[in-house]
Amino acid sequence: MALLDRALVRVLPAVPRPVVKKLSQRYIAGPDLADACRAVAGLNLDGKMATIEEITTRDEASALLAEYEDVFETIEREGLDSNVSVKLTGLGLNLDRDFCLENVATLVRDAAKRGNFVRIDMEDSSTTSDTLEIYRRLRAQGLDNVGVVLQAYMKRTLMDIASLAPLRPNVRVCKGIYVEPPDVAYQEFETVQINFVEAVEGLLEAGAYVAVATHDDWVIAEVLTLLEERGLAPEEYEFQMLLGVRPELGDELVREGHRLRIYVPFGRQWYEYSLRRLQENPKIAGYIALDTLKRLRR
Ligand code: FDA
Repeated sequence: MALLDRALVRVLPAVPRPVVKKLSQRYIAGPDLADACRAVAGLNLDGKMATIEEITTRDEASALLAEYEDVFETIEREGLDSNVSVKLTGLGLNLDRDFCLENVATLVRDAAKRGNFVRIDMEDSSTTSDTLEIYRRLRAQGLDNVGVVLQAYMKRTLMDIASLAPLRPNVRVCKGIYVEPPDVAYQEFETVQINFVEAVEGLLEAGAYVAVATHDDWVIAEVLTLLEERGLAPEEYEFQMLLGVRPELGDELVREGHRLRIYVPFGRQWYEYSLRRLQENPKIAGYIALDTLKRLRR
């Protein structure tokens, strides 16, 4: 399967743009903020919350900041149930950590003014320490409307949870999407699943707010057991999924009374974004190919 996934990714740049567009339509709201708002309004009607992320390949942090300001304003004006997600490399993390901190602090303050929340996505392992350090510094500035992400495949994650615990952080747990070497990340599927559940357990133990971001049936079932054992109310945690991925599973969670937030990416650079995400993790190409085949057969 891994060979097939890699082969799919290699041929992708040769696939005509309209075909890539058609395939990515399920997973990306569209080029404009209005497209994201339409997607979020539809999700809200289905009882699902959202988190909007602007796709960008540019390193112009100031332009991105202005665009996010627009996103907060639009969410408030249109009464949408959505917060935002942001990648720190888009706010200058690779240029200068202090510059990035200033930018993200501005963003989090803008969000606070409008009663909104910022989730800092986690990128590849070269950024983990800096990202967590920036999160700590934001919290030290008294900013609480901000959360971070920990990846279950990272060997350091349980240690990161132990050191973040005193902050009672708001953490999204996901498996991790970047291809990482064995010295930093678990490679076996089951080990990542087990580490995921342990991470959620450690966070709940620390009194953290946990966002469980996965489409994996086994992980979801294990987490549901943990939540039930602790008797947590639905507003004390949430599930998260990606736009267009296993929506029926999401519907089931909502029907059972759990809160679900959908990650809604939008932006003009959808083509570059789609190719980059697939190159970062060829497994996704396999999922999409399989999903498309299933849909064609229906
Ligand atoms: P797994 O990969 O085992 O997928 C379970 C099943 O879901 C698959 O068998 C397949 O059916 C389906 N599936 C999963 N992904 C699919 C796709 N793209 N297309 C079609 N079907 C798919 N990662 C990261 O490194 N940093 C981050 O900040 C985030 N943020 C984030 C937010 C949210 C809301 C989600 C849901 C995910 C992320 N991720 C992420 C991505 C995450 O790390 C992971 O790569 C994907 O969620 C897929 O892993 P699963 O846990 O779903 O399991």
